[in-house]
Amino acid sequence: MPKADRFLKACRREPVDVTPIWLMRQAGRYMPEYRALREKHKILELIKTPELAAEVTFQPLSAFDLDAAIIFADILTLPEAMGLELEFVSGEGPLFHNPIRSPDDIRKLKPIDPAEALGFTLQAIRLVARELDGKVPLIGFSGAPFTLACYAIEGGSSRNFIKAKTLMHNETDAWHQLMERFADAAGKYLVAQVHAGAQALQLFDSWAGILSPADYVAYVQPHTRRVFDIVRESSDVPLIHFGTDTAGLLPHICRSGATVIGVDWRIDLHAAWRVIGEDFAIQGNLDPVTLFADIETIKEQAELILQQADGRKGHIFNLGHGILPETPTEHVAALVDFVHSYAIPAP
Ligand code: CP3
Repeated sequence: MPKADRFLKACRREPVDVTPIWLMRQAGRYMPEYRALREKHKILELIKTPELAAEVTFQPLSAFDLDAAIIFADILTLPEAMGLELEFVSGEGPLFHNPIRSPDDIRKLKPIDPAEALGFTLQAIRLVARELDGKVPLIGFSGAPFTLACYAIEGGSSRNFIKAKTLMHNETDAWHQLMERFADAAGKYLVAQVHAGAQALQLFDSWAGILSPADYVAYVQPHTRRVFDIVRESSDVPLIHFGTDTAGLLPHICRSGATVIGVDWRIDLHAAWRVIGEDFAIQGNLDPVTLFADIETIKEQAELILQQADGRKGHIFNLGHGILPETPTEHVAALVDFVHSYAIPAP
């Protein structure tokens, strides 16, 4: 089977020769090539210069035998395009200078035309898709409304998300308006990415796991569904829903419109499939910290995950969350090669 087909076939739960693997944040600071470029350019410069974003997208593909590319971008350029002033403060992470705190702030958000406001990423997708020429598929992505709302309201990363949850509970109408704005913008942005050449889409709802199931259903799920509905109207590319700490939310997450469900290491694949049913593909779920252990341990842990997949169609190997900056590159190479060497048992 051509390597090019594995990832998309697994997303569609078709048989594959070996389990496809890609890694969230596969382009990033753990790679010396990336750090070298970062010495010359700020992160937002890399993202907003299509040639540089394309170059970074290719770095992990040159270094490892990965089965998919993911466009180099960030989930926070979308709220930035809607009017939130974004800065990446070194050592501290992202910061919005004018976070959303009131219904008035929500009214001030600009509706976006992705071709105009996020044209740099669409152009990067065109460049990468042309150069990939079908060798491996290209994944486009967006932040999900909830995770975007968390950053927009908190103004940055947060421990307990007190401001976001309080707005959600106390100003429910405003909350839903904000989520609708983000859902429409994310939906349009993802459609534009498909038109530019993305062959699969991942919606990052990284912080969904901080919610109770009841709150997820009441305040988040309809908006996530809206994003996927918007994409589905014009395209049948595989849709991946990613979140962390979602074990207790899986019965609801799998009804949000995606056909591939990303899970982290806090649930094993048997258990996840038991909850969501075998109509879904699953992406995951090695703990990224495992990549700091010795190579034998990494292989053992990866093998456990492959055994849990147990020959089911529709397993895409990945980490349970993004690869960490200090990860040894030889360990990444060993993981990728091990996953490809594993003989999938007959179903
Ligand atoms: O996966 C890839 O290779 C594509 C690139 C990608 C980036 N961000 C580049 C990036 C993707 C898919 C993202 C998504 C993203 N961004 C998420 C969802 C995934 C997740 O990890 O939960 C989130 C929450 C963000 C927001 C964000 N961007 C944070 C919190 C940070 C700072 C934290 C950190 O790691 O420093 C970023 C910056 C960022 N985006 C980096 C990269 C490679 C590192 C910044 C640097 O180069 O200095």
